[in-house]
Amino acid sequence: QEAHAAEMERTFIAIKPDGVQRGLISEIISRFEQKGFKLVAIKIVVPSKDFAKKHYHDLKERPFFNGLCDFLSSGPVFAMVWEGEGVIKYGRKLIGATDPQKSEPGTIRGDLAVVVGRNIIHGSDGPETAKDEIGLWFKPEELVSYTSNAEKWVY
Ligand code: PPS
Repeated sequence: QEAHAAEMERTFIAIKPDGVQRGLISEIISRFEQKGFKLVAIKIVVPSKDFAKKHYHDLKERPFFNGLCDFLSSGPVFAMVWEGEGVIKYGRKLIGATDPQKSEPGTIRGDLAVVVGRNIIHGSDGPETAKDEIGLWFKPEELVSYTSNAEKWVY
């Protein structure tokens, strides 16, 4: 009962252009929704290359940085904020390991992707990045606070 009265944890989740083009939006939303997490923001945008570089700034020394930024800005990205107890860590669990060859069946990447460069979804890897990424992709007024009917049965 206490859990939803307090400020709930939030994470940034994005379906990358490959996931959008492959028609996986509803499948991915379902997995988070059915778990009991709550959707509090969405938008679909084609990010610019500069924006992609900001999103992936932590990776700028990596050899795949440029290709990854090109890829993210190559088409529509379905950006979301999900809320719930433990959603940052458990969201990563739902997503599965970075390399779909290593992600378990039952995870989003395990079930729906084959190679790391086309791993269909991104999720914040910790509280700091979640905060930064939500702030980069959304204005505060684009996030909604509401009580869902299911909530009293989830918590
Ligand atoms: S690492 O090594 O732990 O920093 O990597 P990781 O945090 O798992 O991945 C960071 C993001 O880089 C993407 N990635 C790659 N893209 C293309 N090619 C290769 N080889 C590659 N390796 C990692 C990976 O998918 C992560 O992006 P997001 O969008 O966060 O999933």
